[in-house]
Amino acid sequence: IPTRLNQVCGSPFLKPFFLKTPVRVVSPLQQRRHTLPASEFRNLTPQDAISVFEIEREAFVSVSGECPLTLNEVLSFLDKCPELSLGWFEEGQLVAFIIGSGWDKERLSQEAMTRHIPNTPAVHIHVLSVHRHCRQQGKGSILLWRYLQYLRCMSGIRRALLICEDFLVPFYLKAGFKEKGPSAISVSNMHFQEMEYTLRGQAYARRNSGC
Ligand SMILES: CC(C)(COP(=O)(O)OP(=O)(O)OC[C@H]1O[C@@H](n2cnc3c(N)ncnc32)[C@H](O)[C@@H]1OP(=O)(O)O)[C@@H](O)C(=O)NCCC(=O)NCCS
Repeated sequence: IPTRLNQVCGSPFLKPFFLKTPVRVVSPLQQRRHTLPASEFRNLTPQDAISVFEIEREAFVSVSGECPLTLNEVLSFLDKCPELSLGWFEEGQLVAFIIGSGWDKERLSQEAMTRHIPNTPAVHIHVLSVHRHCRQQGKGSILLWRYLQYLRCMSGIRRALLICEDFLVPFYLKAGFKEKGPSAISVSNMHFQEMEYTLRGQAYARRNSGC
């Protein structure tokens, strides 16, 4: 192509018309402005890690000084098991999210904080967080409910486990979790309760939930 270009441009008689920006024919379909969906639920990707971490940092650092996941851990889980995450986007902006990973033991241990074990019957929910502008509107409960419905549709998953501080136990009880007692995990002298959700009646639930 460079040779041909030189030949044509070098000729005093030929106008290099093909160098002009071509006129694009835009169909009415293409002309329609692209609008982002008002509300969308989807798995997160490593590209969402910064938005995730911004919400997480605001939610936790001001309260406890500790984030459940560092930015590197967010990136790592969204790389290893994006299918165990769920984000709620409004007009393209992340407003709430859940990040989970696979776990293979009855109870959560310190090791569970940083590991993803694939193809396991339990999911460890590391973090559920709602953007501060959107709290107390039912979004946390709705996202959690959708996530548990989604897990129900994934074959092989039987339980969801998490740890939380005492003040959030009523929130998770309302969502259908049961208390498993004090957790062995502690982070900077903070203590947690372990909660478990059993994805019961899977065959029935799947038949009736369009999985
Ligand atoms: C906890 C959280 C996910 C709840 O989401 P939300 O959209 O605000 O919650 P909903 O509107 O669905 O439900 C409200 C209920 O949450 C519970 N709740 C929320 N924040 C609470 C808090 N700081 N203390 C006690 N209960 C709280 C209450 O049960 C409340 O019900 P009430 O108003 O009748 O008391 C959200 O507040 C959040 O992101 N917090 C910061 C991060 C965090 O703590 N995440 C959970 C641990 S991983």
